Amino acid sequence: MQAGPLHLDGKMLLSPLCGVTDSPFRTLARRHGAAMVFCEMTSSDGLVRKNPKTFELLEYRPEERPVGSQLCGSDAAIMADAARMCADLGFDSVDLNYGCPVRKVIARDAGAAMLTDLHRLERVTKAVVDAVSLPVTAKIRIGWDKNTVNAHEVARVLEGTGVRWITVHARTRTEKFTGQAHWEVIARVKEATSLPVIGNGDVKTPEDAKRMVDETGCDAVMVGRGSFGNPWLFERGNRILAGLDPGPEPTPRERIQTAVTHLHDLARKKGEYASTLMRKHIAWYVRGLYDNSTLCREVNHAKSIAEVEELLWRYLDRLETPRASTAAGHGAPAAANGDGTATIASALDGAG
Ligand SMILES: Cc1cc2nc3c(=O)[nH]c(=O)nc-3n(C[C@H](O)[C@H](O)[C@H](O)COP(=O)(O)O)c2cc1C
Repeated sequence: MQAGPLHLDGKMLLSPLCGVTDSPFRTLARRHGAAMVFCEMTSSDGLVRKNPKTFELLEYRPEERPVGSQLCGSDAAIMADAARMCADLGFDSVDLNYGCPVRKVIARDAGAAMLTDLHRLERVTKAVVDAVSLPVTAKIRIGWDKNTVNAHEVARVLEGTGVRWITVHARTRTEKFTGQAHWEVIARVKEATSLPVIGNGDVKTPEDAKRMVDETGCDAVMVGRGSFGNPWLFERGNRILAGLDPGPEPTPRERIQTAVTHLHDLARKKGEYASTLMRKHIAWYVRGLYDNSTLCREVNHAKSIAEVEELLWRYLDRLETPRASTAAGHGAPAAANGDGTATIASALDGAG
């Protein structure tokens, strides 16, 4: 896919995900075939006020390229200033968040609230497009609620502003992250605009990615929660979209090795605090594996990077030691709280 100067080598993109898509996570996604990755949403107000925490969210490494920033806000002048700052930081694109369902964002007329005022949406988007030479893109939901689904109209307005593509998270604001995504609306958006359309919502397997492209005609697929503990989804999705066999799922050894790599990468940035930050990721890496709940419990009590790494290798030894095959054998369903479910639920206070 081409968006002005930006060339995407592949059709599987990593979503912006608050609290998840930091630099180590994005690096892993790119290494495993994500065509493009995004920093989590940043507030345009925070950026223009030069809030150091906002700047920290925008740190990236050259090997992540192409890497996009994502801005949230509803004031045209502030969004334009913030976009200029993203350009100065060297990002490959600026995405505009028109989907965040979180109450404090909506209260400032931003995120998904922008879908309810198309004049404002047009004004803000145009101000950003005029402010920077980088490709500007938009990520929308399909509407505010099931009675006001307007993604096709939003797409037409956005097309007139000069954005380079539209990503459609196929849920309404009211649905937040629940229920099944309405892929048929992605197909409707694709018909309504000549812009490239990126489909998003409920892609958890390579087969889902193919089905989304086949059913909606979307130009590329953006993956959010399906990437948690599963960077292999990008390369396996690339293969199936190229008409090839997706290849095998990662082995337990690959999962643990990747968790260790992720841990060390995070430690380079965050020091010993990485052992706490890695808890949710580890729960995701071992989802569905034998006795994962014991590992997660141990990791939650670990105090250092070295201790977490030791626990991961010891767990792999347990996995690779032949066991009597019983109902609790390899591949048995994950125990409650050991499969990352609770962690995902707590991470679900997401932004898009
Ligand atoms: C924890 C979490 C954080 C999120 N943060 C953002 C964000 O910063 N910006 C955004 O546009 N969407 C955000 N989203 C929405 C996702 O990018 C994506 O649109 C949504 O999860 C649907 O895709 P999926 O079914 O593949 O997860 C977030 C979602 C979750 C679960």
